Amino acid sequence: MDYLKIFAPATVANVSCGFDSLGFAVDAIGDEMTFTKTAKKGVKITNITGADLTYNVDENAASTVVKKMLSEVNADFGIELTIHKGFSPGSGLGSSAASAAGAAFGANQLLGNIFPKLELTKFAMFGEKVACGTPIADNVAAAIYGGFVLVRSYDPLEIIKLPVPTALRVVAIHPQIAIKTKDARAVLPEKISLKDAVTQWANVGGLISGLYTDNYNLISNSLIDVVAEPARKKLIPFFDEVKSSAIAAGALGAGISGSGPTIFALCKGDEVAQKVYNSVQESYKNTEIDFEMFISKVNQEGIKIIN
Ligand code: HSE
Repeated sequence: MDYLKIFAPATVANVSCGFDSLGFAVDAIGDEMTFTKTAKKGVKITNITGADLTYNVDENAASTVVKKMLSEVNADFGIELTIHKGFSPGSGLGSSAASAAGAAFGANQLLGNIFPKLELTKFAMFGEKVACGTPIADNVAAAIYGGFVLVRSYDPLEIIKLPVPTALRVVAIHPQIAIKTKDARAVLPEKISLKDAVTQWANVGGLISGLYTDNYNLISNSLIDVVAEPARKKLIPFFDEVKSSAIAAGALGAGISGSGPTIFALCKGDEVAQKVYNSVQESYKNTEIDFEMFISKVNQEGIKIIN
């Protein structure tokens, strides 16, 4: 294979209670990237559209990953890549993760598919570190594995793919402001109380159990975050209003997508999802802030080759 084009999905990390350890991929939006083998060694970005990102191969989340992979196997060829961002950096929808995970997937194809998904996740985490200072795995693992994932352990890295109840839908609103992951991590508490820790880990257990048993009530009751959301919601204009209107319209729960500002709501079925979409749209229309919204299924397959 000398060329491929891929789709790398946007992702929702944390999923309320699972800070840095839970995530899922969405179907509706993502990036497109192309990878071309070159006789000249090394990596080069030839085109970026859809966002203003660096072409510096040592600073771009995608090219750093490709460069690391080529050097790790001492490849006798190079790779040129193009990146078309389908959604904005700083949205909380795993923008750098889509680039980094897409890069790991694409480079691996040109290398003859030599790395398993776990290794691709590790390479992609390197790109996340370049982009935001921390090698977080929740978004990149969701993009690579598809569906819901649990980062059961960071050291050694262990990713568990979780089942996705078929009627689950996500509604998301992206207020058009950018929040850097680094800044959203800086407001997090360094310590939490034992009471909050108990609440949090019990809800992670409940959410995972709900996913395995198709128990939408349990999923709903477990979509609670007493760790990151209280500290971060002040960065997101009208967060409480959006969350209340989503839940009033029938959402199972709502929370901050990754480090924000996107707010996600999980819903059971298309009809409820549309009601939640309408209600959230109505609640945001009167603010002075521009926004984009989408409804999506959970993306089950992760990054895929599109030609
Ligand atoms: N889990 C990470 C965070 C995701 O919430 O900071 C960042 O994209």
